[in-house]
Amino acid sequence: MDRTKILVTGGAGYIGSHAVVELYEAGYQPVIVDNFVNSQESALAGIEKILGVKVPLHRIDCNDLEALRAVFAEEGSLRGVIHFAAHKAVGESISKPLEYYQNNVGSLLTLLQVMREFGVEALVFSSSCTVYGIPDALPVTEQTPTKKANSPYGATKQMCEDILRDVATAPGASLHTILLRYFNPIGAHPSALIGELPLGVPQNLIPFVTQTAAGIREKLTIHGDTYDTPDGTNIRDYVHVVDLAKAHVVAVQRLLEGKAALVETFNVGTGRGNSVLEVVQAFERATGQKLNYVIGPPRAGDVPAIYADVTKSVQELGFRTASSLDEALASAWKWQQTL
Ligand code: UD1
Repeated sequence: MDRTKILVTGGAGYIGSHAVVELYEAGYQPVIVDNFVNSQESALAGIEKILGVKVPLHRIDCNDLEALRAVFAEEGSLRGVIHFAAHKAVGESISKPLEYYQNNVGSLLTLLQVMREFGVEALVFSSSCTVYGIPDALPVTEQTPTKKANSPYGATKQMCEDILRDVATAPGASLHTILLRYFNPIGAHPSALIGELPLGVPQNLIPFVTQTAAGIREKLTIHGDTYDTPDGTNIRDYVHVVDLAKAHVVAVQRLLEGKAALVETFNVGTGRGNSVLEVVQAFERATGQKLNYVIGPPRAGDVPAIYADVTKSVQELGFRTASSLDEALASAWKWQQTL
């Protein structure tokens, strides 16, 4: 079978590795680009075990114009790109803003230049609900105005969205792009062969929860319980990473079938908000593990509550999540146990 080639930058990372698997299973030929600054080789072995084939890999930095050109030249017939490669830690971005702007904005500019040179016209971009800042009303729709970003990380996502809008709508441009605004991706592939691999102490909730249950961390600290929410803890929309990966396949399909407008934006979430305490309870229920936790002070930069309105992604993209919070948490726990 002649498979349509899709370049996946950051394809060895957490979301990227799951998207590579779903793309291949949907009949595409993913081609991975990764510089392994925040990903590990073991993800490649996991992908290979799941699929039974090796996925082509280029070990380069997307900021490296010549190296990226060489990848496009060597691959020859790329039809589209999914651009995951980026730094993603909110806290770190406050201490290293230059690195975040350079890496996240710089790599997109380099990628767009090379895509134009090689006539590749379809791009799915990893955006984030962070672009909404602290929203005035919930749930947030794609029409909800974006607010000043809470961190340089958030600012890079807003800037990248603006760049893509300008580039795709410039006279004579041929780029079509779908911006997927992820809510909180969690969980792991059901095989437990790939999953999230945080370096050092996890900053994100679910890896901290699973490491605490596994005895690696003594206790989870819940960052504040005096927010204006029913139980006082933050509310988020936790989406199973396999569902999120499938949204990328649907987006690629839409672009390649010529059904997409020049620029389209979709929320990718479940449409449900869960508080941190609800996540802890769901984890205990789904895994039978008792979780040791304490309430700590609020974390700087946290948005009190955000979850997605998914009407547009259901109606226009034809995408809907399938997994429950409990299923996602059970898969995260299964993955933790294999680590
Ligand atoms: C943030 C960004 C998101 C980004 C992600 C990547 C926003 C709105 N979202 O998600 O765009 O992709 O980081 O890292 O900016 N929590 C605890 N204890 C912990 C860890 C987390 O209570 O040890 C709480 C947090 O306060 C938060 C929730 O768990 O309420 C989720 O936190 P986290 O997993 O870090 O993701 P976000 O901050 O929501």
